[in-house]
Amino acid sequence: MSSNGRVAIVTGAASGIGRATALLLAEEGAAVMVADIDESGAQAVAAEIVAAGGRSESIAVDVSSVEGTERMAAATVDAFGGIDILHNNAVLQVCMSQRISTPWMSGTVSLLPIFGVSSSVRVL
Ligand SMILES: NC(=O)c1ccc[n+]([C@@H]2O[C@H](COP(=O)([O-])OP(=O)(O)OC[C@H]3O[C@@H](n4cnc5c(N)ncnc54)[C@H](O)[C@@H]3O)[C@@H](O)[C@H]2O)c1
Repeated sequence: MSSNGRVAIVTGAASGIGRATALLLAEEGAAVMVADIDESGAQAVAAEIVAAGGRSESIAVDVSSVEGTERMAAATVDAFGGIDILHNNAVLQVCMSQRISTPWMSGTVSLLPIFGVSSSVRVL
């Protein structure tokens, strides 16, 4: 499947695997929302994509926050008109280090990936 013309969100995209994924998707022609808790790092990656001729914006978000992931999804729709790809790269790191407790669920961190994805998908 080609990423050309699609809209992608990559979380944890300020560095490492997320950054590499964001750059690759942009190179393939996707518009990329670079999302990370590290605001300046995310801005730098989005700027790198734009400087290379791609379409990108950045957003500071903590993926363990429902409000944050909803804001991330809404900002992506506002910027690029939709969401086709969600690479929830930051989630695994969070789920290995945090325990969650919300009005909807409380328990082991292994549920967090579903949590992050569903917050974004709701906006589609
Ligand atoms: N590198 C590996 O060998 C490896 C192996 C297995 C799994 N992983 C997982 O893949 C993911 C990426 O790994 P990496 O090596 O690129 O890590 P990394 O530390 O280089 O990058 C992680 C990024 O996620 C961001 N981040 C951290 N917490 C966040 C949060 N709550 N909300 C939003 N962004 C947040 C960080 O600011 C950072 O930019 C991680 O989840 C990691 O656990 C990595």
